[in-house]
Amino acid sequence: MSDNPQARIRNEMVGDAWATNAQHDDAMLEPFGTAVIALVDVQPDERVVDVGCGTGAATVELARRAATVLGVDLSAPMLATARGRAAAAGADNVVLLGVRCRGSTFRQW
Ligand SMILES: C[S@@+](CC[C@H](N)C(=O)[O-])C[C@H]1O[C@@H](n2cnc3c(N)ncnc32)[C@H](O)[C@@H]1O
Repeated sequence: MSDNPQARIRNEMVGDAWATNAQHDDAMLEPFGTAVIALVDVQPDERVVDVGCGTGAATVELARRAATVLGVDLSAPMLATARGRAAAAGADNVVLLGVRCRGSTFRQW
């Protein structure tokens, strides 16, 4: 059992439900994802990190625009859905990793 509340919620309590019902979240979050993707204006030669990628809706959209996308999330069930989504989209420039990000996670990059 994780000692982190988010990890516990997203893995041990409701992670499967979020993953199974991804289409509901997608519908709710799609306007925000679309706005963020337009704002960052990703270019074909750029590498993107999608922190908290969830079930991967935005990750796959980013992959259509970027050179590569690294999607990270602390929820194993949601990442499993993201992997299926990326594969279905043929997004072979996506890497998905189980990471619990903290303030320092990407400082070394
Ligand atoms: C609103 S949902 C993701 C939405 C997703 N970006 C999309 O557009 O569909 C937020 C995500 O952040 C993840 N998350 C929360 N805290 C995190 C952390 N510290 N490290 C990694 N992922 C985290 C959750 O597991 C969840 O999947």
